Amino acid sequence: MSEALKIDIITPFPQMLNGFLQESMMKRAAAAGLVEFNAINLRDFATDKHNTTDDRPFGGGPGMVMKPEPMFAAVESVKTPDSRVILMTPQGQPFKQAVARRLADEYNHLVFICGHYEGVDERVREALLDEEISIGDYVLTNGVLPAAVVIDAVARLRPGVLGGGEIATEDESFSSGLLEHPQYTRPPEFRGMKVPDILFSGDHGKIARWRHKQAMMRTGERRSDLLENDRKNSENNP
Ligand SMILES: C[S@@+](CC[C@H](N)C(=O)[O-])C[C@H]1O[C@@H](n2cnc3c(N)ncnc32)[C@H](O)[C@@H]1O
Repeated sequence: MSEALKIDIITPFPQMLNGFLQESMMKRAAAAGLVEFNAINLRDFATDKHNTTDDRPFGGGPGMVMKPEPMFAAVESVKTPDSRVILMTPQGQPFKQAVARRLADEYNHLVFICGHYEGVDERVREALLDEEISIGDYVLTNGVLPAAVVIDAVARLRPGVLGGGEIATEDESFSSGLLEHPQYTRPPEFRGMKVPDILFSGDHGKIARWRHKQAMMRTGERRSDLLENDRKNSENNP
């Protein structure tokens, strides 16, 4: 069995993670020993009696900035030479399925730093990080939800998390470069809407070709940029 993926999440609001980690797939993955979650309360690493983790920005301006000392102490309490330390920030690399795949395949220990308020002191970026990730071009109040998004996408790619290797992630949207084909389940007809006959044919080759064609059409209609990337990749790697 492959090693469990250890995930540390550093935040002054660890209780925000409760629902996410204690339900459904994440809960099951942890119970099966496939992923180990550890929510770290940044306030435990504050050095003053008020457990302060933020302060006013030098140079003036609104809001508060997260102080470097508790952040360094929190990261250093869990970091090993094999850890990957990731800051969640709208200024990071855009999060894509390929990034999730890389993190799932290459690391057994991920440390997520969740910013709050105006973000983290720049010295955290300079000296503590391996990478910075953004989940999209918008700004949220804090990094817990962004970290949860990345953790979910990464954890489900680890062996066994989706259930015994039966669930193929290769055909999913973005993995193959295309959006996934349409899916149907019972009943065969619902309110006059019928499931396409080919899905009852039992001919796996025909079904696979139909699904691929549907995936191409759907991608062309909704995300022609993905088809263009796919074309460029094929040209660069013939
Ligand atoms: C209000 S934001 C800070 C934004 C920062 N002042 C800026 O303009 O780049 C507070 C924290 O939420 C998290 N966050 C907000 N939006 C995010 C996004 N799109 N992706 C990743 N993290 C985000 C980050 O951890 C960030 O430090």
